Amino acid sequence: MVTEEDRELLKASLMVQKRAHCPFSRYPVGAAVRTEDGTIVTGCNVESASFSLTCCAERVAVFKAVSEGHKRITACAIVTVDDKPALPCGACRQVLYEFGTDIRIILGNPEGEVRILSLDMLLPEGFTSEQLLERTERAKSTD
Ligand code: THU
Repeated sequence: MVTEEDRELLKASLMVQKRAHCPFSRYPVGAAVRTEDGTIVTGCNVESASFSLTCCAERVAVFKAVSEGHKRITACAIVTVDDKPALPCGACRQVLYEFGTDIRIILGNPEGEVRILSLDMLLPEGFTSEQLLERTERAKSTD
């Protein structure tokens, strides 16, 4: 079911999509994340003439949110220009996973089509910081 909160996040994504810097792909993407305290943070894709430096809209939104002090993301809306709402790339799935393994993913397009998924469906058994933190703790105790 598409909620009012989902629509609000989609609206924010559609607005920021207009700011996409995508002269090479001409594929504008807008994303908006909702943090645990209800704050909405947006991002658009930012391309580089040195192609591999391009950053996806979802990652821009996540990095902006984290740099503003947010640590937990509960939902992420993504809009593209496709006929069918597009899915986030693998790299963005992993970056989102760091801040909530069960983030609600709301996909949309300018025609108003909406698809709702959960991040743990898109990235089952993703890599988490647990292994790393366990190792760090063990290393500390033997120092
Ligand atoms: N892109 C995103 O912003 N998010 C994704 O999940 C997939 C791809 C962007 C990167 C690039 O600017 C353009 O879409 C074409 O790949």
